[in-house]
Amino acid sequence: MSGLTEASHWTELKKHYSRIRDIHMRDMFADDPGRFSDFSIHSAGIFLDYSKNRIDRQAMKLLFGLARDTGLEGKIQAMFSGEKINTTEKRSVLHIALRNRSNRPILVDGRDVMPDVNQVLNRMRSFVRRVRQGLWLGWTGKPVRDVVNIGIGGSDLGPKMVTRALARFNKSGLRVHFVSNVDPAHLENTLAELDPQTTLFIVASKTFKTQETMFNAARAKEWFLQSAGDKKNISKHFVAVSTNTPEVREFGIDPENMFGFWKWVGGRYSLWSAIGLPIALSTGMESFEQLLQGAHEMDEHFQNTPLERNLPVIMGLLGIWYNNFFQAESHALLPYSQYLEDFPAYMQQAEMESNGKRVTLDGQEVDYDTGPVIWGAPGTNGQHAFFQLLHQGTRLVPCDFIIFARQPDHDSPQHRLLLANYLAQSQALMTGKTPAEVRQELLQQGKSPDEIEDILPHKVFPGNRPANSIMLTELTPESLGSLIALYEHKIFVQGTVWNINSFDQWGVELGKKMAQAIEPELEDDSVVKSHDGSTNGLINTWKNMCRS
Ligand code: F6P
Repeated sequence: MSGLTEASHWTELKKHYSRIRDIHMRDMFADDPGRFSDFSIHSAGIFLDYSKNRIDRQAMKLLFGLARDTGLEGKIQAMFSGEKINTTEKRSVLHIALRNRSNRPILVDGRDVMPDVNQVLNRMRSFVRRVRQGLWLGWTGKPVRDVVNIGIGGSDLGPKMVTRALARFNKSGLRVHFVSNVDPAHLENTLAELDPQTTLFIVASKTFKTQETMFNAARAKEWFLQSAGDKKNISKHFVAVSTNTPEVREFGIDPENMFGFWKWVGGRYSLWSAIGLPIALSTGMESFEQLLQGAHEMDEHFQNTPLERNLPVIMGLLGIWYNNFFQAESHALLPYSQYLEDFPAYMQQAEMESNGKRVTLDGQEVDYDTGPVIWGAPGTNGQHAFFQLLHQGTRLVPCDFIIFARQPDHDSPQHRLLLANYLAQSQALMTGKTPAEVRQELLQQGKSPDEIEDILPHKVFPGNRPANSIMLTELTPESLGSLIALYEHKIFVQGTVWNINSFDQWGVELGKKMAQAIEPELEDDSVVKSHDGSTNGLINTWKNMCRS
């Protein structure tokens, strides 16, 4: 037994789960007219309806009690005050400082980080203005037309997701591309459409050591120099975003053209730093700062609101309820907005790299489940792909439905249809369809008793499947900032309850090291015997296939 599973509220929650697990949400709504108003909340620009969850007031009370058992309130303050809560890397966790629009001092090792944050923002502002106004000229005197961000993981997913989500705000005409995969197809297909005279590369890597990024950046430099010839032209076409000045210099980028950030910014939490440069280039610095403002509003909400009214806390605890008591194994993110197409993939890294951990902060193996599998796709596309399983499969998959109330075309029939589907899907998941309802419907369609009995089980929907419904007024940089920060803090809440370190990522090391060992073995035709049977077999099969 661990501290968590011995906590008094954990034991109470287990008992409460046994009482509640067979109660259908239909009945909960029928018995409680106040359910929607009690289980919905509007704060920091975000409306959350969590009434379609398998909870009652007692369940929520116990969940808040569990959060208090784990010291959540103190840990929130610890993060905001710069304590080194990333204990395995001995680092503060201060993405909140990057969007600290109040500018109040935040100390790391006794030193205020805000002057550094503001200095980088100032440098970004001036660079972005020059590029967007056509004043930053390439080696032949032409302004920039295409920007290529070369990065992976947090140095790709965040800026890509936001740049695409805010595409409507790109009035500059700049085209921003993202290359992450070491599969040469990614870079080569991108380069094929570009003119080196008008292309600006951003090499984005916190460590400036990530193999994929370094290979892609080196190849981009080679491609550029094939046209530009002289290495001195690199300074007009390559900038870096990194914490590692020596490696940036070594690569051939003048540190004058480097935008720094700091070790206390986790890669998957870095879009608020200079890693957000592609966002600023695409949408303008003003929009980027509105994004920061939106996140800051959520930070203020998270830090200052009692747990019972705190959006990230509520969402985090609901996740704990399903993950640890209902044994749900995954969680689906379903944005009903094409602009948020990349949101599930971004949140997948954020959540799974943060909370995919199996030991507690003090190194003990957990005796409860931690982070679920995060997945999803925009509605309505997902409805025609995986919703079958959500409605009638054997697994319980809690869902977050996300929509913007106002869209540029919100009066169009298509947007009404989008909204109708957003509303209907969580309704259908909750209510389901009983055998009696199916029978009645089939009778009305004139089916015979035999036909009805044959088809009936296939047409029953058990319902009682939980969903959060999130509604924002409009997709703006500010509202998007709040939405992302909401999820970031939800991750923190869950990691705190599970007593794990949400801010390291040792789990990505082993495969990377093994790839480094295997890569040289692929250079020639010799038979490989140095690994396990399967890996040897695969390498040698590959060699045979290449030779044949
Ligand atoms: O995949 C592991 C990881 O370290 C992520 O945490 C990070 O976002 C990504 O690699 C990229 O790292 P870097 O920015 O240092 O290139």
